[in-house]
Amino acid sequence: YEIISLRFVMQLQSDLVPLHLSTNVSFVSQCRPLRALVGRLRTDVGQLEALKEEMQRLNDSLSVLQERFTLHHYQQLQQREFILQRHLHSCSSQLGCGLLTGISAPLTIRSSGSRFGSWMMDSLIDSTDNRVWVMDGYFKGRRLVEYQSLGDFATGQNFIVHHLPHPWAGTGHVVYNGSLYYNKHHSNVLVRYDLTSGGVLQQRPLAQAGFNNTFPYSWGGSSDIDLMADETGLWAVYSSIGRGGNMLLSRLHPDSLEVLRSWDTGFSKRSAGEAFLICGSLYVTNSHLAGAKVHFTFHTASASYEYTDIAFHNQYSHISMLDYNPRIRALYTWNNGHQVLYDITLLHFIRTRHANSTD
Ligand SMILES: *[C@@H]1O[C@H](CO)[C@@H](O)[C@H](O)[C@H]1NC(C)=O
Ligand SMILES: *[C@@H]1O[C@H](CO)[C@@H](O)[C@H](O)[C@H]1NC(C)=O
Ligand SMILES: *[C@@H]1O[C@H](CO)[C@@H](O)[C@H](O)[C@H]1NC(C)=O
Repeated sequence: YEIISLRFVMQLQSDLVPLHLSTNVSFVSQCRPLRALVGRLRTDVGQLEALKEEMQRLNDSLSVLQERFTLHHYQQLQQREFILQRHLHSCSSQLGCGLLTGISAPLTIRSSGSRFGSWMMDSLIDSTDNRVWVMDGYFKGRRLVEYQSLGDFATGQNFIVHHLPHPWAGTGHVVYNGSLYYNKHHSNVLVRYDLTSGGVLQQRPLAQAGFNNTFPYSWGGSSDIDLMADETGLWAVYSSIGRGGNMLLSRLHPDSLEVLRSWDTGFSKRSAGEAFLICGSLYVTNSHLAGAKVHFTFHTASASYEYTDIAFHNQYSHISMLDYNPRIRALYTWNNGHQVLYDITLLHFIRTRHANSTD
């Protein structure tokens, strides 16, 4: 028994458990359970090692999962933001749409340039571009002046001069979605000029359109072709011999400048002072002189017209440009060398969505 016990203790020692060699039987018997304990501890250490590795793997995959969850969550938020923005946009364009019922007192922003000219800001509703573009004169001009803001324009500071590759005719230009659209001098060609690169992106004749003072507005000035933008896109107002001088309204493709659809308003272009478009309705003034009012309205939605009587104060008595900017929601005019804004009043018809609509 002792021999066996001794062998046991030695074996225990070889397991590096500090123990005094003793032949004391009771001591050896006390030590006996330690062997099992050490064995169990060893197994436990092994298991702990495995557990640690397992935890490490879990931690790693948790981190990956966390990343994935965050990305997924972010995408969901983005999606919701996108939907909200669409709602907001459709709400604001519905709010911006309505029938013109009044034009406020004029606000003179600046007095500069010659009697006739054009000044504009980007009309695209989504645009954040607040630069002001000025084209003084109506005959063969090439000088396009860029101001950084309305404030800079008002004080005549901070401007850059661009030279257009083709001269313009009239004052019916429009700035829309980063491009200037204008009528090329002595032709019915429309030019799309990129305001960023300074290159001509497109040129296309407006089929049948009169030019060179054939069908100008009442003030003359080669204002045969009037380009404009409303909430829904780009348009041209002009006339043709085939239509007996009636004012025609065409929807244009903003890239190709192709005519998408046309309406004959029945109103004589030469009798009109100016025209501007709000939500697909064309408003026509009866004169460019004092006493002018919005006299005729053509609705493209119903292809119908009505005579109206919306007065406004023609402070400087010679309007050579009048355009509505749907983003700023104001009328821009060039009146005898003064650049003037008018606020407008629209009568809204807000369509409410059907209750179970998901959009
Ligand atoms: C778990 O993973 C994270 C991120 O990868 C790390 O910061 C952290 O130290 C890890 N924890 C353990 C216990 O390994
Ligand atoms: C405005 O221009 C951008 C890029 O040039 C184009 O992607 C977008 O469709 C344009 N928007 C409209 C309404 O034409
Ligand atoms: C435009 O009108 C001017 C002056 O009236 C004339 O000299 C010129 O030939 C006309 N140009 C075209 C292309 O009709």
